[in-house]
Amino acid sequence: MSSVAQQTAIRGRFLDIQNTVLQASQISDQVRYIEDGLLITEQGKIIWFGTWEDGQSQLNKSIQVDHYPEQLIVPGFIDTHIHFPQTEMIGAYGEQLLEWLNTYTFPTEIQFANKEYADQIAYFFVNELLKNGTTTALVFCTVHPQSVDALFEAAERHQMRLIAGKVMMDRHAPDALTDTAESAYQDSKALIEKWHAKGRNLYAITPRFAPTSTPEQLERAGQLKAEYPDVYVHTHLSENKNEIAWVKELFPEQKGYLDVYHHFGLTGERSVFAHCVHLEEHEWQCMHDTDSAIAFCPTSNLFLGSGLFPLKKTWEKQVKVGLGTDIGAGTSFCQLQTLNEAYKVQQLQGDKLSAFEAFYHATLGGAKALHLDDQLGNFNLGKEADFVVLNLKATALQQLRQERAKNIEDALFALFTMGDDRNVQATYVYGNKVYEQKN
Ligand code: GUN
Ligand code: ZN
Repeated sequence: MSSVAQQTAIRGRFLDIQNTVLQASQISDQVRYIEDGLLITEQGKIIWFGTWEDGQSQLNKSIQVDHYPEQLIVPGFIDTHIHFPQTEMIGAYGEQLLEWLNTYTFPTEIQFANKEYADQIAYFFVNELLKNGTTTALVFCTVHPQSVDALFEAAERHQMRLIAGKVMMDRHAPDALTDTAESAYQDSKALIEKWHAKGRNLYAITPRFAPTSTPEQLERAGQLKAEYPDVYVHTHLSENKNEIAWVKELFPEQKGYLDVYHHFGLTGERSVFAHCVHLEEHEWQCMHDTDSAIAFCPTSNLFLGSGLFPLKKTWEKQVKVGLGTDIGAGTSFCQLQTLNEAYKVQQLQGDKLSAFEAFYHATLGGAKALHLDDQLGNFNLGKEADFVVLNLKATALQQLRQERAKNIEDALFALFTMGDDRNVQATYVYGNKVYEQKN
């Protein structure tokens, strides 16, 4: 584990969003852009932020300043939905959700019974997040408790703030991947006691999705949530039309898909539902009323042919939303690429996603969706010092385009359209530099 840096000082060009907003139109007023700024961290937290001119007198003479004159420094990206065991299966050909799960996903996840295997992939996964500038993620593990140990152990090496949990799944999956209502409850409870709020780790109760849990198991999940109200709930919802029809067959007594989770006490301010592509009107209302959040996963929704997520509706209905890569149905770990596809998903619906709104979803908006906006998402004093140093000109083509950028908004939009992990120069977690690109 890396030590907590006493003090770190970073000088450069900074961009963040100062406050959460209720409407997309309010975001541009909250943009804070400092051309020559200084950020000082102590014990993992931000203790000073402002212009270099104002801040240099604050600096203790012995501190070394990491100076990035050309780059853009932004808050660490937040991925609100990703599966670490699916890292190795990105690009599995030809199927939509239900067939894709049976053909590719379940056989892949069976391997995570082996702790050494889980360790190896968890290590790779955490490095890949950091290489892409993602400093916090809400993560699915597998049904095996040891897969959760593997992930938190890997994250702790960098003191990353991760939220994760053991999959609960007691039907409609191979025997090697199923638990029972009782064992899922007991195993999840033991993992909560072991990991939740230990260091920066947080736990999420993780029923895979309604079709793979019996009503008895969902009831036990709800019981756990009632016993530990500050843990998260993380699952999938309304991703694919066949999936939705299947849930209606399996739970005919409920009003719809979301009502299954709501009935068992699984909605709420720390509940995150991945996808929500095909929500019905009463479900949007329930998401709002319960203050539940959505993880919008554009590369996955396009790859699996699931549908087009109506991002505009989240503002209309006042429902929290973050951005998810959903690896391995998603096709990139990179939030820049995820925003590139998010923009196109809105274009196909006749809507616009501005550069600043996109940036909000990847940072402070994501933090809000995870109920962590008091700790993450911008450079406000007292927040945890997770940030990314971006090189906007990582290729000759990007250089050509960026030299013609009209302003910071245009530069940001071009970065989202063309960027990927080549643009991530360095990543800092809790004040420590944990990744630096080798040229
Ligand atoms: N629904 C249930 N399980 C999964 C999964 O692993 N990936 C996606 N995209 N959707 C799911
Ligand atoms: Zn998923």
